Parts: sequence; structure tokens; C-alpha cells
Amino acid sequence: MVALNKYLYYMRYIIASIFLLICCSSCYYDHANLVYPKTSCNITGITYSTSVTTILSQNCYSCHAGTASSGGGIKLDTYTTLMVYVSNGQLISSINHTGTVPAMPLAASQLSACDISTIQTWINNGSLNN
Ligand code: HEC
Repeated sequence: MVALNKYLYYMRYIIASIFLLICCSSCYYDHANLVYPKTSCNITGITYSTSVTTILSQNCYSCHAGTASSGGGIKLDTYTTLMVYVSNGQLISSINHTGTVPAMPLAASQLSACDISTIQTWINNGSLNN
């Protein structure tokens, strides 16, 4: 009788352990795209003609292209006119929201961290007309 009690006592632990194992293994999330969401930002091979103009056309050209009538006459849609604001540092402070120049895009949410670092990297690489 004592031996049986002892046996049942140990069995309880073994069964509990097995349940725990099954639980833990079934909770394991094995979808790579969910476990590792795509947060990487590719800042290699950045060019003016593709990377930079894509960001600017999507977020800035609505006010800063053509006559830039709704952008205070500030034209950012050509390399030459954009370079004025690259050189005086206003392009980067406007998108970084550092407070020294009006935060851009005006009345919209800030550019994504990846868009900002794309523009920053292009500038760091010499803001080439490439
Ligand atoms: C809804 C219209 C609008 C959008 C969109 C917009 N801007 Fe502007 N932006 C303006 C206006 C208006 C001014 C002039 C503000 C002023 O001088 O007070 C301005 C000024 C600027 C300036 C000059 C800052 C200064 O010293 O006045 C820069 C640089 C600039 N914008 C960059 C951008 C960039 C980069 C984007 C896109 C990420 C953008 N803007 C999107 C309306 C806009």
C-alpha cells in the first residue's frame, strides 16, 4: 500500500511534467515573419533619382513641386532647388522635427525612421545627383 501511494505520487509529477512539455511546445510560434517582423531598413545603394525622389514625391511634392504655391515657394522637386535646403541644413532639420525650422511634412505625421535615415544617408554620402 505504501509502495502504491509512492508510485501514484511520482506518477502525478510525471504526468504534470508531460502536460507542461506539451503546453510549452504548442505555444511555440514558428512563423518567421511574425517572430521576426521585417524592421530592417536597407540603406545601401541609395540614389537621388530613385530613393530620395520617391520619398519626396510621396510626402513633399504636393506642396513643394512646380510653382510650390502651397509650399511657401520652396521647390524641392529638382536637384538644384533641393540642394539649397540640403546645404543650409533645413531639409534634414525639417524632417527630424528638431524645432529650428517648421516640422515637415506640414500638418502630417513625421516620415518613417527608415525614410529619414535614407535621406540622411544620401546626404552623408555627399548628396550626389545620382
Ligand atoms: C501641406 C503642404 C506641405 C507639405 C506636404 C510639406 N511642406 Fe514643407 N513647407 C510648407 C510650407 C507652407 C512651408 C513654408 C513654411 C514657413 O516658412 O513657415 C514649408 C517649408 C519647408 C522648408 C523650409 C523650412 C523653412 O525654413 O521655412 C523645408 C526644408 C520643407 N518645407 C521641407 C519639406 C519636406 C522635406 C517635406 C516632405 C517630407 C515637406 N516640406 C512637406 C508646406 C508643406
